[in-house]
Amino acid sequence: MELVRLERRGAVAILTLDRPDALNALDRATLEALRARAAQLAEDAALRAVVVTGEGRAFAAGADIAEMRGLTPTQAESFSRLGHEAFAALESLAVPTIAAVNGYALGGGCELACACDWIYASEKARFGQPEVNLGILPGFGGTSRLVRRVGIGWARELVLTGAPIKADEALRIGLANRVFAPEALMEGALATAQTIAEKGPVAVAQAKRLLLEGQDADGRVANALEQATFGLVFSTRDREEGMTAFLEKRDPAFEGR
Ligand code: CAA
Repeated sequence: MELVRLERRGAVAILTLDRPDALNALDRATLEALRARAAQLAEDAALRAVVVTGEGRAFAAGADIAEMRGLTPTQAESFSRLGHEAFAALESLAVPTIAAVNGYALGGGCELACACDWIYASEKARFGQPEVNLGILPGFGGTSRLVRRVGIGWARELVLTGAPIKADEALRIGLANRVFAPEALMEGALATAQTIAEKGPVAVAQAKRLLLEGQDADGRVANALEQATFGLVFSTRDREEGMTAFLEKRDPAFEGR
């Protein structure tokens, strides 16, 4: 059985966490499988977008509590590092990633969603960082990425109370970009992924990189990086094709170079 399934729909990949009996709880094996899938996708030159979702009624209900229970402090640190490595591998993919949150996204599940470029939520989704209920704290990015997504006030409320929120609240605070009826979620995420797949791939990848790296950089450095990258994409055939197609009033045929 594969803990993280990979399916290809044309230029779009779907990654599905597949441990539904444990609500896709993230144990070491699942995190290792996720890290391996991200490495596999990083090598895929024809890939244009990724949708991440969960099998069954959860996206992921967090790190695996049964496995964590016996950990020593050193083992817990190593477990946290593994989660960070897996999520960073996903976050740093050149192509955009969309979290299609079908159900519970709690603890490590909410952190996984935040490692994706943005989140689409089912009306059934529940988000939260319930670690304090267990006497622990977030270990896969809940004190870092979540802050960037929702701002410090909401990150504090979520992490320090452990209380979950529903999809409409997640939408209101900017954690989710859109909310869908449960049966429309994957269709919505795949439609957006397909839209991305039709754009200039080098431009999309470079813009994604700037949006990711720019948020940690000093403002002047981020602006300088944007200027340099703006110049760089003028060396691609795709920008020649994109501009020519616009002026010739036809659809562009991008090649990704
Ligand atoms: N770890 C291990 N197993 C889990 C799990 C988790 N995080 N979440 C659910 N499961 C298992 C349950 O133990 C149960 O297994 P059995 O059938 O073998 O008993 C199965 O999944 C179904 O779960 P429930 O029976 O509890 O389902 P429910 O509908 O009654 O409740 C829920 C759903 C509210 C999500 C509840 O399962 C729950 O609260 N789960 C834990 C959520 C949580 O605390 N997550 C944070 C983990 S810590 C973390 O993530 C740290 C970090 O940042 C790295």
